[in-house]
Amino acid sequence: MREIGDAVTRISGLVGAARQYSQLDRAPHRVVDVHDLLDATLVMVKGKIPAQVKLVREYDRSLPPVPAYAAELNQVWTNLIDNALGAMGEKGVLTVRTGRVGDLLAVEITDTGPGIPPDVRPRIFEPFFTTKPVGAGTGLGLDISYRIVVHKHHGDIRVETEPGRTTFRVLLPVTEGPPPA
Ligand SMILES: Nc1ncnc2c1ncn2[C@@H]1O[C@H](COP(=O)(O)OP(=O)(O)O)[C@@H](O)[C@H]1O
Ligand SMILES: [Mg+2]
Repeated sequence: MREIGDAVTRISGLVGAARQYSQLDRAPHRVVDVHDLLDATLVMVKGKIPAQVKLVREYDRSLPPVPAYAAELNQVWTNLIDNALGAMGEKGVLTVRTGRVGDLLAVEITDTGPGIPPDVRPRIFEPFFTTKPVGAGTGLGLDISYRIVVHKHHGDIRVETEPGRTTFRVLLPVTEGPPPA
């Protein structure tokens, strides 16, 4: 009986995360706590995290909720986490951090992979640019993420990289901006 109870708890947790992730039953644009979105995304990608990759969450819970297209932001976290996992392979540390930078909210995804070489760095946000083998990468993850963050949320997405430490930082305005073009 206890195992059934545990399974039901796990399943309803997964269903809740899937709803939070897909946002299908929610208004597309509303005020959200980014931590709820990050946690839902992490539940969805958990199966892809290798046993020897450690997940570290450093959340600043004092951050205000932000106006956002929640499902689209979930796509951004998914793309950044997917890249981070891809860069690290079987072993490493994935850190998901939130904080404040001036009057912007920052979400950072850091991996301990090899970093982005200087000749590759200027091209990563180009559509269809990928260094992955044919069939493995579409080269669209960062292009789509850039559009969602910069064009739809009037935010910014930046990268800092060196061997052993790559951070993608998404900056989001805390207050409502002009409607997207
Ligand atoms: N965390 C990362 N570490 C190293 N390289 C990265 C990372 N994130 C992105 N890149 C580089 O940027 C390229 C483009 O990423 P993306 O647009 O997501 O396309 P894809 O993942 O399909 O290749 C990747 O092929 C890779 O070379
Ligand atoms: Mg990608």
